Amino acid sequence: MTQDMIVVLDLGSEESTRIAREIRALGVYSEIHPYDLTAEQLAALPNVRGILLAGGPNRVVDGREIAPSQAVLDSALPMLAVDVPGLPQLRHVNTLPHDEQMCQELLRQFLFEDCKAQPNWTVKNFIDDQVELVRRQVGDKKVLLALSGGVDSSVVAALLLKAIGSQLTCVHVNHGLLRKGEPEQVVRVFRDNLGANLIYVDAVDRFLDKLAGVADPEQKRKIIGAEFIRVFEEEARKLEGIDFLAQGTIYPDIIESGTKTNKAVKSHHNVGGLPEDLKFQLVEPLRQLFKDEVRACGVALGLPDDMVYRQPFPGPGLGVRCLGAITRDRLEALRESDAILREEFRNAGLDKKVWQYFTIVPDLKSVGVRDNARSVEWPAIIRAVNTVDAMTAEIEEIPWPVLHKVTRRITSEVKGINRVCYDLTPKPSGTIEWE
Ligand code: XMP
Repeated sequence: MTQDMIVVLDLGSEESTRIAREIRALGVYSEIHPYDLTAEQLAALPNVRGILLAGGPNRVVDGREIAPSQAVLDSALPMLAVDVPGLPQLRHVNTLPHDEQMCQELLRQFLFEDCKAQPNWTVKNFIDDQVELVRRQVGDKKVLLALSGGVDSSVVAALLLKAIGSQLTCVHVNHGLLRKGEPEQVVRVFRDNLGANLIYVDAVDRFLDKLAGVADPEQKRKIIGAEFIRVFEEEARKLEGIDFLAQGTIYPDIIESGTKTNKAVKSHHNVGGLPEDLKFQLVEPLRQLFKDEVRACGVALGLPDDMVYRQPFPGPGLGVRCLGAITRDRLEALRESDAILREEFRNAGLDKKVWQYFTIVPDLKSVGVRDNARSVEWPAIIRAVNTVDAMTAEIEEIPWPVLHKVTRRITSEVKGINRVCYDLTPKPSGTIEWE
C-alpha cells in the first residue's frame, strides 16, 4: 500500500467533509469513519498515521452523548480533537479555523509534524491502493456490477477491470429511457475496448409496456425503479457463483442517505434499496471519494471524456422528460431533440459552461405549418441551468444564434416537433426537471 491515511472520526461534526477535503488538499489521503469505529476496524485500515476527532453539534445520538471507543483512544496514533469536550489529554482546538491559512497551518502541523504523514495522495496512488484492496477482499471470487453508463458505475467498472479482470461481470440494462447513443457507448467502451464480461439486457419493450398509459410522475418513477431491480435480479440469478456486488457509491451518497450523526436528506438507491434476499457482500471502492475525485480516477483509468464529464442524468432517465404517459413516438422525438441540443451545445462550447441541459417534450400539440399544410405537432422545450447543489438553480443565458440553430435543426430534423421553447424559470419557482 502506498498512501498514508488520516482517519477523520465523525463525533457529530457538521464539518467532517470539509476537514477530510482540507486534509486531502494538503496531499494526505483521509477517510471519514463513524464514531463507533472499533480498534479492530481501525487496525484493518491501511497506513493510518493519525486520527482527527471531529466533534460538533450532533454529538447526541439516541439521547446519549457519543464518544470514541477507549481502545481507539488508547491506540498509539497521534490525535487532534476538534470541538470534543472532555478529552483535555489530547491536543485540542475548539473549532477548525475558517480562515484558510490558519486552518491549513493547524492541519499542516498535525499531519506533517505530529503524524509524520507523507503527502502522497494522488489519483494514481489511490487507484493502485484500491486495486490491491479489492484483490484482497475478493480473492478468486466473482463480482457483479450494474453498469448504467453513468460516471460512478463506469469508474467502478474500469477500476475493477484493472483489479480483477474476468472475475467481474457487468450488467447493462437498457430500459429504453437512455439518451441517444448511450447503450452503444457502454458496449463499445467496456466490451469492445476494455474487454469486460458485459451482459447487455435489452429491456426496452418490457419497460415501455409497463409504463404505457401511466401519466403520474411518481408512479412512473416507482415503476422504473422497481422494474430495474427486477430485471437486474433476474440476470443475477442466472449467473452462478457470484459472491460480491460492486456499487458506484460515492461519499455524497452516504451523506445524503444519513450517517450515524446526520439525518438522511433522501435515501440513495445505492445505499438503501438493495433487494434483501440477494446475499452479496459489497465492493464499493469509491465510497470515500467526492465527485471531482471520481472523475479524475475515470480519466486516469482511460475512460473517454464524454463519459467522465457527463452532465447529471436522473435515474428514471428520459422517462421524466417525456411528460405524462410515455408513447414511443414522443419518446423518440425527445431523444432526437435532446441529441441535437447536446451536439449544438458542444459545438458552441456551452457543454463546459452549463451544468445541466436537456429537452422536454410535453403531451400537448399545437398547430403549425409544414410543407405548405397544417401540421399538429408537439413542442420541444429547452432547459439549461447552472447550480452548485441542485437545490436552487439559475437559467443560463444562451446566445440567440445557438438557440436559432437548435430550433432550426429540431423543427426540421425531428419527426413530430413543430415548435421550440426556452424555459426561463429559475429554481425556485420551477424545479430543474419538469416532472
Ligand atoms: P429537480 O427537478 O428536483 O432536480 O430540481 C434536481 C436534480 O436531481 C435530478 N433528478 C433526479 N435524479 N432520480 C435521480 O436520480 C430522480 O428521480 C430525479 N429527479 C430529478 C435532476 O436531473 C437534477 O439534476
